[in-house]
Amino acid sequence: MKNNYDVKDLSLAEAGRKKIEWAAQDMPVLESIRQEAIKTKPLQGFKIAACLHVTSETANLMRTFKDAGASVVLVASNPLSTQDEVAASLVKHYQIAVFARHGESRRLYYQHLQAALAFHPQITLDDGADLVSLLHKDYQKQVREIQASLEETTTGVIRLRALAASGKLLLPVIAVNDAKTKHMFDNRYGTGQSTLDGIIRATNMLIAGKTVVVAGYGWCGRGFANRARGLGAKVIVTEVDEIKALEAAMDGFSVLPMKEAAPLGDLFCTLSGDLHVIDSPHFKLMKDGAIVCNSGHFDVEINVAALKKIATKVRKQVRPQVDEYLVGKKRIYLLAEGRLINLAAAEGHPASVMDMSFATQALSALAVAKGKKLEIGVHSVSGDIENRVARLKLKSMGISIDKLTPEQKKYLSSWEAGT
Ligand code: ADE
Repeated sequence: MKNNYDVKDLSLAEAGRKKIEWAAQDMPVLESIRQEAIKTKPLQGFKIAACLHVTSETANLMRTFKDAGASVVLVASNPLSTQDEVAASLVKHYQIAVFARHGESRRLYYQHLQAALAFHPQITLDDGADLVSLLHKDYQKQVREIQASLEETTTGVIRLRALAASGKLLLPVIAVNDAKTKHMFDNRYGTGQSTLDGIIRATNMLIAGKTVVVAGYGWCGRGFANRARGLGAKVIVTEVDEIKALEAAMDGFSVLPMKEAAPLGDLFCTLSGDLHVIDSPHFKLMKDGAIVCNSGHFDVEINVAALKKIATKVRKQVRPQVDEYLVGKKRIYLLAEGRLINLAAAEGHPASVMDMSFATQALSALAVAKGKKLEIGVHSVSGDIENRVARLKLKSMGISIDKLTPEQKKYLSSWEAGT
């Protein structure tokens, strides 16, 4: 491992540059922030460490930070999502330190996170809170150097809130995931489309007419269930939350406990953020040929160890990303070893939606650099940033909207007018 990078193969860089440029064309909001930052250099002198999926969309966020004057280090937030050609191009063409290799071991994954913290960043970004977690476990002396950490995903925000609730959080964090310009679009439309993309690339299955079981009806589950319905599937939702279950039912989906859904499904996808939502009793009830995958952040939602235990035979890689398990007389197909199917078997969310997420990240980082020191705790993205990102995205889509008239403004801020 070199001091300033560890990537698979620098000769892949040209292919990576093409991917980065292709994605950039669909990220106009981020591009407008980058263009302004080139002139004003708002991150001059800042060191930023990002632990994110190493994709062409992330590359454009890293370019934005670099062009804003920061020195940047990027490491993978998942061993299977790294696009090696993008990592190579970031090192070779954009002079960004990258430590990420597709398929890296758990040991190397953590060595890469350590390499990022060896840069002594003042701002960190996480997708799943692994960097912040490592800081709290092994780098407590360094925590004071960090002005804020930005969190990209629901699972990460849940971990950070748990850390804060235990009274052990040591730095200010911003829950970027919770911004409306992030979760309402990225989690819903991004996950909805990219999860189906991953499943279809892995299996080439027809979705029309199939019974698809969706575990979890948060923003990701909603997105996926709706896209699966759009392709002609009969969709069953499983939930533990009464309100979300009710919403799924009124959105027109069947709602069942997993044990009742298990014998019915042709395809199962977990997007719950929770542990073992598909476990051995469910595998035993499934049909011959059932396909099981996960699109939640961590590979804990499907109990793969239990599946291995009850299987009498395993055939690895019957096609790329597909392992066959024999349970009794039935074949169960596990995709991408239970890891994030949309990033392991496809390319993650399309650039157009990552544009909003990463514009929200970029503006949040600029606000941290410019503003006064935040208090320790979990902070929200400011409404100004959300509105600015939405406004710029609408503009880039050629959509204009109405403005409140003075009369309407007055009406909305009054209480006197009634029946
Ligand atoms: N998370 C989901 N899709 C992604 C993408 N394309 N790039 C970075 N992070 C992602």
